[in-house]
Amino acid sequence: MCGIVGYVGGQSAQDVVVAGLRRLEYRGYDSAGVAVLADGSLAGAKKAGKLVNLEKELKERPLPAGNTGLGHTRWATHGGPTDANAHPHLDNAGRVAVVHNGIIENFALLREELTGRGHDLASETDTEVVAHLLAEAYSSAGDLAEAMRQVCRRLEGAFTLVAVHADEPGTVVGARRNSPLVVGVGDGEMFLASDVAAFIAHTRSAIELGQDQVVELHRDGARVTGFDGAGAETREYHVDWDASAAEKGGYASFMLKEIADQPKAVADTLLGRVGTSGALHLDEVRIPPHVLREVDKVVVVACGTAFHAGMIAKYAIEHITRLPCETELASEFRYRDPILDARTLVVAISQSGETMDTLMALRHAREQGARVLAVCNTNGSTIPRESDAVLYTHAGPEVAVASTKAFLTQLVACYLVALYLGQVRGTKWGDEIRAVVRQLSEIPRQVEEVLGTMEPVRELARTLADRDTVLFVGRHVGYPVALEGALKLKELAYMHAEGFAAGELKHGPIALIDEGLPVVVIAPSPRGRSVLHDKIVSNIQEIRARGARTVVIAEEGDEAVVPYADHLVRIPAVPTLLQPLVATVPLQVFACELATARGNEVDQPRNLAKSVTVE
Ligand code: F6R
Repeated sequence: MCGIVGYVGGQSAQDVVVAGLRRLEYRGYDSAGVAVLADGSLAGAKKAGKLVNLEKELKERPLPAGNTGLGHTRWATHGGPTDANAHPHLDNAGRVAVVHNGIIENFALLREELTGRGHDLASETDTEVVAHLLAEAYSSAGDLAEAMRQVCRRLEGAFTLVAVHADEPGTVVGARRNSPLVVGVGDGEMFLASDVAAFIAHTRSAIELGQDQVVELHRDGARVTGFDGAGAETREYHVDWDASAAEKGGYASFMLKEIADQPKAVADTLLGRVGTSGALHLDEVRIPPHVLREVDKVVVVACGTAFHAGMIAKYAIEHITRLPCETELASEFRYRDPILDARTLVVAISQSGETMDTLMALRHAREQGARVLAVCNTNGSTIPRESDAVLYTHAGPEVAVASTKAFLTQLVACYLVALYLGQVRGTKWGDEIRAVVRQLSEIPRQVEEVLGTMEPVRELARTLADRDTVLFVGRHVGYPVALEGALKLKELAYMHAEGFAAGELKHGPIALIDEGLPVVVIAPSPRGRSVLHDKIVSNIQEIRARGARTVVIAEEGDEAVVPYADHLVRIPAVPTLLQPLVATVPLQVFACELATARGNEVDQPRNLAKSVTVE
């Protein structure tokens, strides 16, 4: 939520910052702005709407050349998406410029104080108070980093801030509480950004800022302190992907590219974690085996698509380990006083590693003594840093706001967690563990196969572009897949879409079905658990008897569904537990195509942002 960039070095600050914002636009696209320090004063531009509006403005009225600057792309919280509310915000003298990600909870009080002292605040944002407070603090401290520390001690809430002062050309100062901030270490130039993607074209060396830290950047280095001024240790790390990973690579959208990336993302997430004997090597899960053996309950917390991965994790964990497992929406978790203790393992799933609801849930779990294992796609982000251990997914950067490849890799990681727990605890599932591991290694090829047969799904999506509603139903792990299919359609196509457990239809939702309503059914494998399959065949018949147009996703060779399918989408035969890895792909393609046919921009759906750093 909101992307911020700061730069000091030898290049044009405007160019570096705007290019960085382009990479961060997934974090919010309600407005964008930039400011540079040139000839002892600040110059800036800001525009409501997408970054392209700011770029147009800068083309018509370029800023004076300067080598120090900052910029922002906004997801609106306080105040609508107007030019006035766009960042950067300045003090009344126009000497300080600030950009911000997060929410300053005590801003109303601070604003009242400032107006009482004669400050004139022009926007409705919480951020503007920081510019004014910094200007005041600077007038006595005479040092921007010290002024920032003083101001941060007065702020409540979540905030990442970047500021420049006209009296300190060649200095950029950042501060971090809760929302992310990463330093990019270049050769004679330094960067600050919400995400390494903003500076990956310039450097792959980064320093993750810790909680409650302030960083002062000059072109030849960075100095990090706590909010109290005490020096802080930093750790430089190498970013293991390059700029091309964050490009569209010839695809019309990031979403299409990321759907196509899935076989590789799954393979990369498995890589190095499975031995030839089928045993798992998850040395990075730094929770000692004796602690894992003592675990008597697993709780999975996550939001949105990651929550759907968590729902599937429950099936895998309970089946493989026989441990009770609950999956809960992170946003609800801490407010209901959950029962947790030192024998509870909490699995927190998050692509970004920044989602505030998930972060708060894991903090609550740790306060109660539970161990937390993060499943995360973003190296060094807050959620893994605050967890006892992390299992990274290797999806690479996911830029499209709607999650696709991260979801598939979260599933893989959840299966690995389940299998690893089974292995460590020595449950009777040894042979089954090896069998599932073998089947997992087939998934990249099978996802590739699905991707190669998607044209009829795209055609079907185009014919449904004028519909108001699509329903999705499934059983067992097909139920979370149905929820995920519906979520993708809602967020991309802005349509009414709902997912149901097929068995629940007759308890109410079947009343929604009338002539021609498209209903997508995820059919479980007919092998093994044939009772489940028999039940879904009955459900499809019930749906069809009410006039629905059925779209059935069924494995190769499943003939029982054929008479009741108006449209049949074939997926490779995989064990039911792993079926979400192949069954989700057609639903992603379906939603992407249908949204495109409706004229929507799939990478940046309205009202959304990729990293949700507010509760
Ligand atoms: C939907 C989507 C969101 C995220 C959710 C959690 O396509 O992407 O529902 O899954 O906001 O985000 P992370 O995984 O970053 O915690």
